[in-house]
Amino acid sequence: MKLRPLHPRFGVEVQGVDVRTVTADRLYPEIRAAFEEHSLLLFRGQDLDDAAHLRFGALFGPVEDRSMGRNGPEPRMDNVTNRQGDGTIAATDSLHTLNLVANQLWHTDSTFLPVPALANLLAARVLPSSGGETQLVSTRAAWRDLSEDLKARARKMVLRHRLAHSRQGISAELAALPAMHRWDDQLWRAVWRNPVTGDEALYVASHACGVESMAVSEGQAFIADLIASATRPEMIYSHAWQGGDLLVWDERATLHRGLPWPYAEERTLASICISAQDIDGLAQVSP
Ligand code: OGA
Ligand code: MN
Repeated sequence: MKLRPLHPRFGVEVQGVDVRTVTADRLYPEIRAAFEEHSLLLFRGQDLDDAAHLRFGALFGPVEDRSMGRNGPEPRMDNVTNRQGDGTIAATDSLHTLNLVANQLWHTDSTFLPVPALANLLAARVLPSSGGETQLVSTRAAWRDLSEDLKARARKMVLRHRLAHSRQGISAELAALPAMHRWDDQLWRAVWRNPVTGDEALYVASHACGVESMAVSEGQAFIADLIASATRPEMIYSHAWQGGDLLVWDERATLHRGLPWPYAEERTLASICISAQDIDGLAQVSP
């Protein structure tokens, strides 16, 4: 196994590994160490079906049922796709497409769930002719760039997260859907300390709708400033998808977003999120 840097601030391509052959004892410990250290892993040329993808994901922790927003008894694959159940491509102005467009706001996954995510394992399935890149930044690198004064303030802060908030930024009709209101607001500290490396990272997302102990508008302006500073152009790794790619990112220490593509074309990525556990620092991020 060889590591090649993807971006000056974070991320590595993992070379020489066929993910289908990884087990808890064989290569997973090295891969997990690279995940803790670099926050983003790229595996190229992988040939994963849903079962192999789920098996690899389960090494990281409990698989989240992304459509149900909880840990289901039977882990399932969730496709990030504009192809609908009936086989047709969702209309450009449909709520289905708008919900995918909401992924174009900088976020980290599942902060609105009672159990937030540790990781997302996202794999190419059907790629459009152009666009549709996935971009990421390191919020650990962003943390290092903050002034000591801001760090001290952020360490005391608790953010409120709500799925409908990020959808509201795209479409009021989308935000009003019952599916966007299945969970109570979740409160998380604004800093997630990695228990393995000791590194702190900003923990913010498009789902963050306020800072506890601040007026709503003041809190939202503060969150917008934090996200803007973390996503300066030089911080961004932009992933142009190729067939066989698998990205694994640390939800505790990154932000990501998708970029637009010609919506009449299919774009399908296979995704599973892994739920964070106390060994991942979950208890300390809980206020
Ligand atoms: C996700 C996500 C972005 C993309 O899978 O959680 O935000 O590029 N994906 O599709
Ligand atoms: Mn996402």
